Amino acid sequence: MARKKIALIGAGMIGGTLAHLAAMKEMGDVVLFDIAEGMPAGKALDLSQAGPVEGFDSTLKGTGDYADIAGADVCIVTAGVARKPGMSRDDLLNINLSVMKSVGEGIKTHAPDAFVICITNPLDAMVWALREFSGLPHNKVVGMAGVLDSARFRHFLADEFGVSVEDVTAFVLGGHGDTMVPVPAYSTVGGIPIPDLIKMGWSTQEKIDAIVDRTRKGGGEIVGLLGNGSAYYAPATSAIMMAESYLKDKKRVLPAAAHLTGQYDVDDLYVGVPVILGAGGVERVIEIELGDEAKANFQVSVDAVKELLEVCKGLEPSLA
Ligand code: APR
Repeated sequence: MARKKIALIGAGMIGGTLAHLAAMKEMGDVVLFDIAEGMPAGKALDLSQAGPVEGFDSTLKGTGDYADIAGADVCIVTAGVARKPGMSRDDLLNINLSVMKSVGEGIKTHAPDAFVICITNPLDAMVWALREFSGLPHNKVVGMAGVLDSARFRHFLADEFGVSVEDVTAFVLGGHGDTMVPVPAYSTVGGIPIPDLIKMGWSTQEKIDAIVDRTRKGGGEIVGLLGNGSAYYAPATSAIMMAESYLKDKKRVLPAAAHLTGQYDVDDLYVGVPVILGAGGVERVIEIELGDEAKANFQVSVDAVKELLEVCKGLEPSLA
């Protein structure tokens, strides 16, 4: 059986980490695409030279030619720019929207059968635009945010409870960013919901509220510490988990920015919800009953995503 092909569109900090992880796991052969001259080829060569040490035979190729992504099974998109000081949200939208246009067209032409995972921010708007520009089926285009956000929540909860991260599950809904909605009632330690653990005296509502707040601002905390750039290890590993669920048809239940068609009373938007990811891409959107507070918070998140899409449609009339 031929090896799978993983195309990474954007070979920056997340793209390079994705390539490293994909090669180490021998998920398939890797193509690193970027508009930067030389850099993707340099990373591909550097990573290839790790192969003899680590024992992986995946080939890695850096390129600036979309033809090289032909036949990719998975495309992971990190192309774009991060928001820099002095740049307005609309400036960022404008730049990354035009990046999504070229990436969407490249995928449409060369890898129309791929499963596409978008990471570029602002995530929920960019994944929607990428889907529009690529014309791929909605179930084959998703955004990576929820796995990362819930990993951040799980890390903080494991720390608070003094337990293994493996025994903590976390549930996060909504848009990526400050409006995301962590749901403690569906987050557990060894199957015990967080509210029960509070009743058992393992923590307090105040501490959990602080963890929820820190999770929401998780990306910004890392930007502040790094001083230059944003998180890349955890975002990359989160997207790899989604890619593996697709490639191995694992049918993992993961939070992802998925296209909604009436679920949660949302139509034609990408928002973070739990989904089943398998060989069919997004095989099912899981619609749960939300409590009043989570419902209200989810609506705030949906409204924020809608607002961003309106700005996108204003900037790019073909999307309207
Ligand atoms: N086509 C392909 N690559 C592009 C394009 C384009 N049109 N425009 C920019 N790039 C490349 C840049 O050359 C750069 O190498 O995208 C890469 C982005 O890499 P980094 O700047 O290192 O950003 P990274 O940390 O990887 O984050 C990427 O993910 O989390 C989000 O907000 C983050 O939107 C950002 C994205």
